[in-house]
Amino acid sequence: MNAKKPLCLPSPANEPNCGPGVPPWPGGPQTAWEAPGGRAQNLPRRAGAEREGSSTQRESLPRSRSRDERPKPFVVAIDGPAASGKGTLARRLAERFGFAHLDTGALYRATALLVLDAGGDPGDPAAAEGAARRVGPDHLADPRLRADEVAAAASLVAAVPEVRRALLAFQRNFAAHPPPPGRGAVLDGRDIGTVICPTADVKLFVTASTETRASRRLKELREQGLAVIYQDVLQDLTQRDARDRARHAAPLAPAPDAEIIDTTTLDADIVFERAAHLVARTLKEKEWQQ
Ligand code: DC
Repeated sequence: MNAKKPLCLPSPANEPNCGPGVPPWPGGPQTAWEAPGGRAQNLPRRAGAEREGSSTQRESLPRSRSRDERPKPFVVAIDGPAASGKGTLARRLAERFGFAHLDTGALYRATALLVLDAGGDPGDPAAAEGAARRVGPDHLADPRLRADEVAAAASLVAAVPEVRRALLAFQRNFAAHPPPPGRGAVLDGRDIGTVICPTADVKLFVTASTETRASRRLKELREQGLAVIYQDVLQDLTQRDARDRARHAAPLAPAPDAEIIDTTTLDADIVFERAAHLVARTLKEKEWQQ
């Protein structure tokens, strides 16, 4: 974050765990965000009837609250560098707890894609800001968002403070008003615990060595049939990491109160169970207070 001119002030006294209140979320499940299981209307409301079994896996909300009395959505903030496993973890946690999920990187990718489609330069702050202002839910479903060229351009637009400011309300809106059943949201990105949702109920920072992340990314790309070599993937990740960490606007960094999970030598299932345990415990504590 730019120390002289913060992008936003944490405001825990305001709306759900994420700063100032914003209008209700307009859309339903999409590629970059998903209501639980992608089928919000079919989700059982109470833990006893949940799909994944035990009540330690899913927690219920009190039964007879009116809309206004409903507890604030439970927010899980997950940050970390590229290919750290945070996206997979975020999806699995959302599924386990019946929360909606937003991959916030898709917002920056969508911004970059809009600039590229218009023949613009992603390094041009004015073009990037204009694109960020146009990003909406429909842009997040574009399969081209996953292209390497878009990823590289996303890392450029993400360094523009005005872009980050333009995308702030979208993310906070999601956390404050997750798609039905609206009990919680998992957001993953680079600045969720530090800027977007500074009072999130659970904050995780998922990381791994650059070499491990490069190997994982290489495997993913090869599984997609792409002829890539390790050195190129490593170089690409190293450059993106450097940009994400060095930028003034909301640099990649763990929040002081984030649980740091280094996945270098950890199996994805172990990481998931550890994170799920933390979320379940915190959910229980919060429900006691309501
Ligand atoms: O996670 P990803 O690879 O889809 O992210 C694309 C780019 O957007 C990456 O350079 C980091 C940036 N980003 C960001 O700055 N803040 C976020 N909350 C999410 C992503």
